[in-house]
Amino acid sequence: MTIMDKTADIPAPRAGGSDDSPLLEVRDLHVEFHTRDGVAKAVNGVNYSVDSGETLAVLGESGSGKSVTAQAIMGILDMPPGKIPQGQILYRGQDMLTMSYEERRKIRGQKIAMIFQDALSSLNPVLSVGYQLGEMFRVHQGLSKKQAKAKAIELMERVKIPAAKQRVNDYPHQFSGGMRQRIMIAMALALEPDLIIADEPTTALDVTVQAQVMDLLKELQTEFNMGLILITHDLGVVADVADKIAVMYAGRIVETAPVHELYKRPAHPYTRGLLDSIPRLDQKGQELYAIKGLPPNLLKIPSGCAFNPRCPKAEDICRTEIPALVPVSEQDGSELPGRGSACHFWKETIHG
Ligand SMILES: Nc1ncnc2c1ncn2[C@@H]1O[C@H](COP(=O)(O)OP(=O)(O)OP(=O)(O)O)[C@@H](O)[C@H]1O
Ligand SMILES: [Mg+2]
Repeated sequence: MTIMDKTADIPAPRAGGSDDSPLLEVRDLHVEFHTRDGVAKAVNGVNYSVDSGETLAVLGESGSGKSVTAQAIMGILDMPPGKIPQGQILYRGQDMLTMSYEERRKIRGQKIAMIFQDALSSLNPVLSVGYQLGEMFRVHQGLSKKQAKAKAIELMERVKIPAAKQRVNDYPHQFSGGMRQRIMIAMALALEPDLIIADEPTTALDVTVQAQVMDLLKELQTEFNMGLILITHDLGVVADVADKIAVMYAGRIVETAPVHELYKRPAHPYTRGLLDSIPRLDQKGQELYAIKGLPPNLLKIPSGCAFNPRCPKAEDICRTEIPALVPVSEQDGSELPGRGSACHFWKETIHG
């Protein structure tokens, strides 16, 4: 028997208006890949939502299904081998998985834009950045070449590329990694989307540049009141940027929480392990903690809680029963809004 995760999702503050559907809501999403070796269950019942002006960070080790979930939202999954056997992806309350092609096309790419990790492979090396930025306006808004170029320069200035007017005809390789990532952000912003999905947008950059690019993204998000889904495996990046966090493991959300609460009091041993693995300046010289073992093979996810073989707290029930994502409360039973954990022993973990 499979247990459907009950959504313990975070009730987000809504940005006015009578329509109370979140900007984007993923409901019980499943994605599998049919490969020669078998069926890889990459996403196994994910629920999350994000509102205008809000940042959701999606966190988890490599292979936990963060990008596949994003690809399903964007409609860029490889199908086949990918398949969505179950689930809904609601944009302002409307399921994109059952919409007509035409309706979907208007949302994806225009209302929802994506920023990838690797700007160099996302930009065309033989076209100038001005041309590529301008293309958005020529294709989608029917602007002339000259108008499009002016828009491109405006966008480059928006993302703080110095001497934008002079550099508009330069090619991607002539820009530094940080500047290229700014161009990717400009590209995503071009059509004034409601939601940006940023998949490891700064992973390829060095730490100082990472912070600058994150600051820029955050600033633009606030200015345009966009929703932001920030995918990362770097807990350090998240603290200053996100409002709430969803932690993924083996294709499931195992914990949700407002950002600072997650750092203070994790309610899942996996989250605790991730937090303990962050290098700390005040503990120089000490050996860094690492969660033992590796994430599971998705062709053969362990029975019960997928984390059980690596969990220091695992008991018999963890090997037989999949824990549902349930609301987490204070010891006296009072509510902890937005908090959820998929651990049989969440009480011991958070209060113990
Ligand atoms: N086209 C595909 N065919 C087969 N398997 C795939 C395909 N795309 C993704 N997968 C599998 O789905 C699983 C989840 O991948 P995903 O890219 O979502 O991980 P992730 O959480 O984004 O990890 P990372 O932090 O490394 O980016 C992986 O095991 C991956 O091998
Ligand atoms: Mg990924």
